[in-house]
Amino acid sequence: MASPFNPREQVKPLAPSSRYSVRSHDLEDDVPSLHITKFSHRNYYCCGLAAAMFLILAVIAIVLGFTVFHVKGPRITMNGVTIEQLTSTANGSLQTDSNITLLADVSIKNPNVASFKYANTTTLVYFYGTEVGEGRSPAGVAKARRTMRMNVTVDIVPAKILAVPEFSKEFAARVLTLTSFTRVHGKVKVVMVKRNVEVELNCTMTYNFTSQGIQGDKCKQRVRL
Ligand SMILES: *[C@@H]1O[C@H](CO)[C@@H](O)[C@H](O)[C@H]1NC(C)=O
Ligand SMILES: *[C@@H]1O[C@H](CO)[C@@H](O)[C@H](O)[C@H]1NC(C)=O
Ligand SMILES: *[C@@H]1O[C@H](CO)[C@@H](O)[C@H](O)[C@H]1NC(C)=O
Ligand SMILES: *[C@@H]1O[C@H](CO)[C@@H](O)[C@H](O)[C@H]1NC(C)=O
Ligand SMILES: *[C@@H]1O[C@H](CO)[C@@H](O)[C@H](O)[C@H]1NC(C)=O
Ligand SMILES: *[C@@H]1O[C@H](CO)[C@@H](O)[C@H](O)[C@H]1NC(C)=O
Repeated sequence: MASPFNPREQVKPLAPSSRYSVRSHDLEDDVPSLHITKFSHRNYYCCGLAAAMFLILAVIAIVLGFTVFHVKGPRITMNGVTIEQLTSTANGSLQTDSNITLLADVSIKNPNVASFKYANTTTLVYFYGTEVGEGRSPAGVAKARRTMRMNVTVDIVPAKILAVPEFSKEFAARVLTLTSFTRVHGKVKVVMVKRNVEVELNCTMTYNFTSQGIQGDKCKQRVRL
């Protein structure tokens, strides 16, 4: 019971300060002018200079934050896909004796003022949800504000395509719809700051048995910073 009274007792010694604050309230209008006259011109000039410097530094920090230190996601573009002949010349059916090579012409555009270093990348190719091929691309560096071009080769195993039930339906329509999945892990290092970047690229492409080429490749990209 005694303790709740203690805070009130502790307030009492502070009471004079509240009287003091009332007094300072009355003087509020006069206080700034009093300060200026008390301060020498030099002190006033220094304060202004310090404030200006601080403002300039703040502006520089903000500008750097939005430009140099602002890491943007690299952009991966599939320029074109070429594929070896899928059908055997003998009977027009899918050739099964060897792997088929799919060549993707890819460019990586790095919009950052620092280089984008990326690791080994695996590209998986699916046909109706079944993995039918795999490609590897070596690690590399995309220079600052440059576009890098490279060929990614993917080995497609025709036997795996044949094993998918939907194949006969697609083959009858003389097409083959393939989807690719690529995830690129990389780093952008701006001065001392290292940022991890992950680019995910999903593409859908259609192989036309009649023209024996890839048509209508569409890609979707997602970047995680
Ligand atoms: C087509 O020829 C390949 C060998 O070139 C053979 O393995 C395959 O069974 C043949 N397919 C048909 C439908 O005759
Ligand atoms: C890159 O690939 C090679 C062989 O494919 C492998 O030995 C190496 O460990 C890989 N490096 C990374 C960082 O994944
Ligand atoms: C076909 O490619 C797969 C990997 O996707 C590989 O394991 C296999 O050895 C290759 N086969 C031939 C005949 O090159
Ligand atoms: C990619 O492959 C094509 C055709 O084989 C070739 O003309 C081109 O020079 C290659 N590009 C690179 C960057 O290796
Ligand atoms: C496949 O290619 C042929 C010849 O270029 C074209 O006539 C046909 O419309 C294409 N098929 C599809 C499904 O786009
Ligand atoms: C790519 O495909 C995978 C698996 O189907 C999916 O989880 C992912 O969200 C897709 N990413 C994009 C960018 O579409």
